[in-house]
Amino acid sequence: MVKDLADPSRPTGQASGSPLMPRHVAMIMDGNGRWAKAHGLPRLEGHRRGLDALRKTVRAVLARNIPFLTVYSFSSENWRRPQDEVAELMGLLRHFIRQDVKELASQNVKIRIIGNRDGLPSDIVALLQEAEATTASNTSLTLTVAFNYGARDEIVRAARKLAADVLSGALALDGIDEEVFSHALDTSAIPDPDVIIRTSGELRLSNFLMWQAAYSELVFSPLCWPDFDDHALDEALLDYGRRQRRFGGLDAVGAQPS
Ligand code: IPE
Ligand code: IPE
Ligand code: MG
Repeated sequence: MVKDLADPSRPTGQASGSPLMPRHVAMIMDGNGRWAKAHGLPRLEGHRRGLDALRKTVRAVLARNIPFLTVYSFSSENWRRPQDEVAELMGLLRHFIRQDVKELASQNVKIRIIGNRDGLPSDIVALLQEAEATTASNTSLTLTVAFNYGARDEIVRAARKLAADVLSGALALDGIDEEVFSHALDTSAIPDPDVIIRTSGELRLSNFLMWQAAYSELVFSPLCWPDFDDHALDEALLDYGRRQRRFGGLDAVGAQPS
């Protein structure tokens, strides 16, 4: 079957001469620990500074009128870290939701959380639900926070959901196609990321948005996440703007004159 080339996950084109801007930026916020080590500080301080960098990045993305930002804040594999670090990261999430949601709501930001909520502390689950509910009708930016998120886990959960629908008779086996599968993922209703930016110089996805990243452009920044700023974001966006995206075809979508 020929797929719909007007897929909403595709970036919007821009007037010729202006750089192509992504509609959806996803960030792997990595390097907090190394930043802390390089500054002779405990890892927790790196995570705290990482939260400041996230606040700055949200403001910068809003100012650039990019409608979707997704950030990787805790992976399904991060439970392998020492208990005290995991506890600190849970504490920072609580802090972020309690402190920042009001301001984000006043900036018309809609918050979504993706990842597995099973097994999370119940007060955190309640906070996540509240953050989503209080911002649900906002329209300037959809900020998706990947928390206790792993792409393999997400895909397995989607497969189980679809299998249950087939077993109950609500869905025909032939009814499962790429679109239906996409809608069973946590990111249903969020377009695929146009660009995934990873900080700290690591060159891997670490189980982030593996289905959705099929045609994402990848940009790697050598900066540790706490050092990521507006300038680094603009560099990444410029890099993205120079890419030629073909989606398997021959014509570049949104290619810029060189
Ligand atoms: C990213 O920074 C934050 C999380 C993964 C929670 P790290 O904590 O992974 O920092 P490094 O990679 O050890 O420097
Ligand atoms: C990826 O970083 C997860 C987040 C940024 C939340 P990691 O630090 O966990 O990734 P690896 O272990 O270096 O691949
Ligand atoms: Mg890391």
